[in-house]
Amino acid sequence: MAQPKSMYVCQGCGYRSPRWLGRCTDCGAWNSLVEEPITSSRTRKGQHGFADDCTPVPLADVDVGATPRQRTAIEEFDRVLGGGLVPGSVVLIGGDPGIGKSTLVLQAVAALGSSERPALYVSGEESPEQIKMRAARLGLADRPVWLLAATEVEAILHRVKAMRPAVLAVDSIQTMWAAELESAAGNVSQVRECAARFVRWAKATYVPTLIVGHVTKEGAFAGPRVLEHMVDTVLYFEGDRSHAFRILRSVKNRFGSTNEIGVFEMTERGLQPVCNPSAHFLAERPRGAAGSVVAACMEGTRPVLIEVQALVSPSVLANPRRTTLGFDPNRTSMLIAVLEKKLGIQLFGQDVFLNAAGGVRMSEPAADLAVAAALGSSFLERPLDPELAVFGEVGLAGEVRGIQHALLRVQEAARLGLRRCLMPRTNLRQIEGLPEVERVGVASLNEAWDVLFGR
Ligand code: TYD
Ligand code: MG
Repeated sequence: MAQPKSMYVCQGCGYRSPRWLGRCTDCGAWNSLVEEPITSSRTRKGQHGFADDCTPVPLADVDVGATPRQRTAIEEFDRVLGGGLVPGSVVLIGGDPGIGKSTLVLQAVAALGSSERPALYVSGEESPEQIKMRAARLGLADRPVWLLAATEVEAILHRVKAMRPAVLAVDSIQTMWAAELESAAGNVSQVRECAARFVRWAKATYVPTLIVGHVTKEGAFAGPRVLEHMVDTVLYFEGDRSHAFRILRSVKNRFGSTNEIGVFEMTERGLQPVCNPSAHFLAERPRGAAGSVVAACMEGTRPVLIEVQALVSPSVLANPRRTTLGFDPNRTSMLIAVLEKKLGIQLFGQDVFLNAAGGVRMSEPAADLAVAAALGSSFLERPLDPELAVFGEVGLAGEVRGIQHALLRVQEAARLGLRRCLMPRTNLRQIEGLPEVERVGVASLNEAWDVLFGR
């Protein structure tokens, strides 16, 4: 009888079974058995009789080479990666179907390949003809990119070993499968095993690897969470498909900061970097509408002006709605409580909707004051000065606290032609020059209200 090539292993206790079970007979966990390949210990051992080459090296002697990062010249992509692709690093790119993952990856590999060392784009989803058609649309049809339509991971790695491409792209990990496993491509065990092999190969050869991953309805990677642990960098491509904007966000990066974003626009000629996101986020702002406020936020090291919109209207529900898009719901609840307690604004019978326009997320407390201003403006039906930018953290006592990078925020407001900034008083002295922008410093919500609504 043929030897089985795989076993089902409980992810909780390690119990092994030759066939799949709904419940682990050892620890009793449901749905915990995952198929894993059997590799005999003999084939794993090297010349010393150990699986790994176990020789420590002094930290000082480790050579990182002269060019540690490869730039793709797609500025927004490089920025999210922390300044370019690190050799041997594995980048996982996730996002909803049709958001532009394949387009981004094709543009990136086309930029990295050279005639001496072409890039390799492995697709399990599209045929070379389809990819060629897309490349032609992007104006990349004659770039040194090789295409491979294949899905079996060993066959792919065998080809790739011979070729040593400048960069490898795998689109998508859910279509790849390893012959040792019986389960279908896209299963947890297949995704994990294939990803592990690509990662191992990238580390051994120093070829940077871009892996496209599908996401589930909830927005997590389809397949095991371990996928995110295995790779060096995890990027999510976000955006509303009905809008042209795409935001590339890093949620894990071993070689850079995770608070950078890249902003792109999907055009007829592929993804174009948006170097001036503030102008785009404010482009469709309704001037003179109650509930609309410009918040001066930071995305990583970059100041971005974002329009905060609030809608406060009497509720017919016993529990009024509190819906927020792009802002932490807990912080919103806190701000509502502070407005009620400190300013006597009665929001308890009101539905509250809050939206950061353009599909962005404001993750900093510095957006608090702008959110409070938007809520007040909508509640009072009093439009705010359209030339005003707002930033500052709000505390539970109703105080307005200082924040970081005040100067960058005011500079960004000035660059976009805004004339006033409402900001924490403690940050005032950090601002030099910029006579074109009037700075109004406040230390409490009460003072802010006087400035905003002239009580
Ligand atoms: P795609 O990269 O195939 O998405 P994913 O791999 O994430 O599923 O992008 C598909 C969408 O992008 C599709 O709806 C068409 C649009 N698109 C453009 O608008 N312009 C272009 O130049 C390209 C290549 C795609
Ligand atoms: Mg695709």
